Amino acid sequence: QEITISVIKADIGGMVGHSGIHTDLVALARQHLEEAQRRGVIVDYYVTWCGDDLQLIMTHRHGTDSPIVHGLAWETFERCTVKAKEMKLYGAGQDLIADAFSGNVRGMGPGVAEMSFIERPSEPIIIFMADKTSAGAWNLPLFRMFADPFNTAGLVISPALHEGFRFEVHDVKGHKRIFFNCPEEMYDLLVFIGAPGRYMIKAVYTKKGEIAAVSSTERLSLIAGHYVGKDDPVCIVRAQGIFPAVGEILEPFTMPHIVEGWMRGSHYGPLMPVPLQYAKCTRFDGPPRVVALGFQLADGRLVGPRDMFDDPAFDEARRLCNVIADHFRRHGPFEPHRLPMEEMEYTTLPEVAERLAGRWEPLPEPHPAIAGGDGSAVEAD
Ligand code: F6R
Ligand code: MG
Ligand code: MG
Repeated sequence: QEITISVIKADIGGMVGHSGIHTDLVALARQHLEEAQRRGVIVDYYVTWCGDDLQLIMTHRHGTDSPIVHGLAWETFERCTVKAKEMKLYGAGQDLIADAFSGNVRGMGPGVAEMSFIERPSEPIIIFMADKTSAGAWNLPLFRMFADPFNTAGLVISPALHEGFRFEVHDVKGHKRIFFNCPEEMYDLLVFIGAPGRYMIKAVYTKKGEIAAVSSTERLSLIAGHYVGKDDPVCIVRAQGIFPAVGEILEPFTMPHIVEGWMRGSHYGPLMPVPLQYAKCTRFDGPPRVVALGFQLADGRLVGPRDMFDDPAFDEARRLCNVIADHFRRHGPFEPHRLPMEEMEYTTLPEVAERLAGRWEPLPEPHPAIAGGDGSAVEAD
């Protein structure tokens, strides 16, 4: 019988500001899921956080997109919101965009990553959770894990991985998806996932169709139509055997790659791998953080977690991240620290543009020497 692992997260109130979470919310969510486990609704659970996001990790037998499990998550978030409002935490209930639950949390605000599979004799799993960034942040690390032989030695030297993997990519603006086989179609894949604001790796499969990784791809701004915060993403990755080794899954994070998010969700900055104790966003509301919790599944039970980035092996990545952060910060409101114009449409930009629309004066016609006889500009060769 298949086991389903669901990670459902939402920002239901920050402490202090958007920097972190209040432990009372974590405790309350635990209590709620504990009850659900006792009632047999879920097999096991683990409640954690990353920055201001409450993370519900659940295992169960209801399959993906289950109204029972999504309903449980929604109810948990609602209960925590009441508490958050009581404490006047910052932005209480901010990600519960819809007023009432309607069967599935997708598109209602929370982020979701879920997968179902038959548990192997031993089933190691890594759950990545990030704050102050968006779902496209997984594109580069997922590509590295499952398609880059310079990252994943197994692609070259393990018969179990040598065939490569299949990537499911979503166009979150066009609302469509496509599959790419790697290594055969690697260059085609990169054409799209290199633009992570629009094309996101939703899932990775073995060539035989076994699920290997799944990410959340909700884009809050597209859901709500105006800026309501970045959709701080989560990602589940299965490890070992026919999948990359734990170390191959963690290796991409030794390079703090540049992601969208950070202050006001409107800046590029490096993604810092941190242990849970540093999963809070301070400097310029960041820099964006990622935590990795490792579990072993045992008949659906979550044995663990192990806090994978709680390790000096990632010190250099963190140090480099700080150096990069310094350099980006010096750009202030200039691109490429600030996001490009297209990405600013959910901010003050349209307002300012509209207010100044009448103040733009046409520039004088080009000088006749550089214009064609009819006054039109001469095309460069
Ligand atoms: C980014 C984020 C923060 C806030 C910023 C302003 O995802 O959550 O950087 O955008 O702190 O927050 P408000 O507008 O709530 O004062
Ligand atoms: Mg927040
Ligand atoms: Mg957040």
